[in-house]
Amino acid sequence: MRRSATLLSLMLLAAAGASAGGEAPPATAATPVSPAVKPDTRSPGERLYARHCLPCHQSDGYGVPDMQPAITGGSWVKGDPKALALFVMTGGFGSAERKDSANSNVMPEFRQLPDADLAEILSFIRAKFGGGGSPVSAADVAAARADLPK
Ligand code: HEC
Repeated sequence: MRRSATLLSLMLLAAAGASAGGEAPPATAATPVSPAVKPDTRSPGERLYARHCLPCHQSDGYGVPDMQPAITGGSWVKGDPKALALFVMTGGFGSAERKDSANSNVMPEFRQLPDADLAEILSFIRAKFGGGGSPVSAADVAAARADLPK
């Protein structure tokens, strides 16, 4: 009993000391509050892919079975850049893949993205998932956009 009373008064003293500002370091803006954030070294295409496509097609491009297909190694990422641009801008509308789809998810349209962003995404997926395909320029995307069904 006596012992725990001593302990309690010691704790009260310590608390009083801390609140008086004795030992506690001042909380300045320079004090790190969370582990350092690593610099984002991803390319613009990889960042845009992560934002718009990764939730469905995953970081390895293999998709999720029965929900959305793999794009890795597929004929679209390896094929004609203009056809790929049209596929992505329309969410595959009109393609055989879309018509015969066994996927429970439907790909949205991405025609709202600027040509430059689409060019970055398509270049990234052709390089990473299409076995090193050539880059796609914003002009290529603009040319495909001109052929979009109205
Ligand atoms: C909401 C889920 C979803 C998102 C987000 C999505 N897709 Fe898809 N994607 C699909 C589905 C589902 C298909 C298959 C077509 C279908 O079944 O309608 C598909 C098909 C594809 C294909 C053809 C695959 C093949 O080889 O047969 C490519 C290429 C593709 N998507 C690229 C993209 C890109 C690039 C983005 C981001 C700009 C994207 N997708 C975002 C669901 C998605």
